[in-house]
Amino acid sequence: MKTIIVCDAIHKIGFDLLKQESDVKVIDATSVPKSELYGILGDADVAITRSSTAVDEKFLNAGTKLKAIVRAGVGVDNCDIDGCSKRGIILMNVPTANTIAAVEMTMCHLLNAARKYVNSCNDLKINRIWKREKWYGTELYKKSLGIIGFGNIGSRVGVRALAFGMNVIAYDPYIEPEKATKLGVKYTKIFDEILSCDFITIHTPKNQETINMVGEPQIAKMKDGVRLINCARGGLYNEKALANNLRSGKIAYLGIDVFDKEPATDHELLDIENLSATPHLGANTLESQSNIAREAAEQAISA
Ligand code: MLT
Repeated sequence: MKTIIVCDAIHKIGFDLLKQESDVKVIDATSVPKSELYGILGDADVAITRSSTAVDEKFLNAGTKLKAIVRAGVGVDNCDIDGCSKRGIILMNVPTANTIAAVEMTMCHLLNAARKYVNSCNDLKINRIWKREKWYGTELYKKSLGIIGFGNIGSRVGVRALAFGMNVIAYDPYIEPEKATKLGVKYTKIFDEILSCDFITIHTPKNQETINMVGEPQIAKMKDGVRLINCARGGLYNEKALANNLRSGKIAYLGIDVFDKEPATDHELLDIENLSATPHLGANTLESQSNIAREAAEQAISA
């Protein structure tokens, strides 16, 4: 009998698959406080985690029997990859199941950054204010969109932005330029070309190369009134620089789904008006979550 522990909430289909296995015991630790998780990890052969559980030194030290960890999602930035390797633990992710969900979340924030419907909705519902002249937006049509990172998610955001009539420019040193140009997207190796766009969105993994990739010096080069989106990982845009430049009006609007430290219920950005903030919902569609849970369960079982 092998034990699989599920540390973060996954779609029911994942649990159903795990429970069908006669030689697998399932521990549902999704409601267990993180402080108590370490006490039960020692029983598990395989763990399934999402972004709410850091696979760090403490986690790995507690999981003394662990042979494999399945990260139910794409990002492994909250996993100590070297620590897993040293202990002989296989670390797997589910790289593409939430692509469309993340793309569409980005489009939500992009459209809102243009029209601020979240803010006007709150003003109407919470304050009961009907003030149409307060809410002039801008159009995506004929505006430039700079995409940093043109992989699975960034490239699909580009295709959707083209449908809105935007001029799309991609920066990604790790792709062949044709990946962008074949789609009708301009490819650039010059980061400053991205910084001169009307809208900028980022879709890179979080690592030493990308943390604080956009900070004060980069924002200083941007247009006054630039609008920024981050539905990838917190900290790719320096959060202090975002706050300063939103307050000054240099950045007209920020759409943000991710924070450097999550959960971020007490973050200074949340006190600033010209932004839309969501609690890391990029992967949260029923379609994506059922795909992720199924793939994660299958990987855990085969491990
Ligand atoms: C991902 O990396 O795929 C997501 O952040 C997963 C999640 O929502 O936990």
